[in-house]
Amino acid sequence: MMKILSVVGARPNFMKIAPFVRAIKAHNRNSRLAIDHLLLHTGQHYDDKMSRSFFQALGIPEADINLGIGSGTHAEQVGQTMIAFEKVVRDRKPDWIVVVGDVNATCACSITAKKENVRLAHIEAGLRSGDMTMPEEVNRLVTDRLSDLLLTPDRLSSENLRCEGVPEEKIRFVGNIMIDTLEANLEKAAALEIRGIIHGNHFGPPPQIQTMDGLDDGFAVLTLHRPSNVDEKGILGPIVEFLVHEVTAEMPLLWTVHPRTANRLKEFDLLEKAVKCRNLVLLRPLGYHQMLRLNLEARMMLTDSGGLQEECCVLGTPCLTMRWNTERPITLKENGGASVLVGNEINRLRDVFRDTLRESRQPVRPELWDGKSAPRIVKAIVEAA
Ligand code: UD1
Repeated sequence: MMKILSVVGARPNFMKIAPFVRAIKAHNRNSRLAIDHLLLHTGQHYDDKMSRSFFQALGIPEADINLGIGSGTHAEQVGQTMIAFEKVVRDRKPDWIVVVGDVNATCACSITAKKENVRLAHIEAGLRSGDMTMPEEVNRLVTDRLSDLLLTPDRLSSENLRCEGVPEEKIRFVGNIMIDTLEANLEKAAALEIRGIIHGNHFGPPPQIQTMDGLDDGFAVLTLHRPSNVDEKGILGPIVEFLVHEVTAEMPLLWTVHPRTANRLKEFDLLEKAVKCRNLVLLRPLGYHQMLRLNLEARMMLTDSGGLQEECCVLGTPCLTMRWNTERPITLKENGGASVLVGNEINRLRDVFRDTLRESRQPVRPELWDGKSAPRIVKAIVEAA
């Protein structure tokens, strides 16, 4: 019997753990070496719409352990997670700890895993933005440096690890596990009604009839949550102006607002302006299937999310990535993908937005983004045991 303890903390982790949990179940049905799996949630994300709704929609069993860490500064989140996680590791004594992605939970639990001498596997290893001002980049570097098994989503990521001196036997190119989730949920998402999603999730006054009618001619979707985009009024203000005056002049814009961003919009007195804009629909954080439904139909995506860059690549949605760099270069147009880096400088944003108006969908599937990464990951861990 092999004991695996896997860790999730924040929204982007949930899409990565769902196929892994399923693949362990399948392994246990077919193999004599059973895996005893425990799922731990650090509680970094705790709102129903940021957490529970994803567990339910993606069929993830309730976490065996929830540390209830909640919000706080980075040091508070990481420190409290380490203290609470250490007790769990000592008590449960797993053979492997599996972490996913690059959030604070990933980094905190990786450090504790190694201090407790437990073997560590990282799903989504090797991504590098080269931008040390991003908290996620720090989390990636720490996690990968400590991991015993580095499971990479693409060959560029494997190469990053080689360049850093990671021994070849620790690196396994397994493909992108997010795409396992996308494949498993496409049908369910496609069956949803876009107008139903809007009616069920908008906040502020109900969207105008004209906006709803306009949806049939194409709409844009926006997500924004990085501190570098939303934490300063001098940056968020001009972005909101651009959205309200220029994007919505071309087509309806559906904005799913992250809690951090909602707080900043209020704090900077920008919410009113957004609410009053006729062609802009503000939505609460959406469920996985709802977001996928919008992405299947959108004329373009404006986002600073890493996961959406990948989903846009596979679905072919033209993606304006509101960052100056990306740890996912495989999704960029120059590498065959659908994404263009536009940062948060309005002139650049405007130019690319105008160019993108003339574009159509170009789906691209990088190597091993085939919906079968999770079984490869389970196999890699079992073989490394
Ligand atoms: C975290 C991840 C980021 C990921 C993002 C997806 C880190 C360093 N960052 O950023 O990589 O892309 O999740 O959402 O781990 N809040 C709520 N309810 C919640 C969660 C958060 O209201 O359930 C609010 C709180 O005010 C909190 C703020 O959002 O302070 C930020 O949450 P936090 O978990 O610190 O970081 P994210 O910005 O969500």
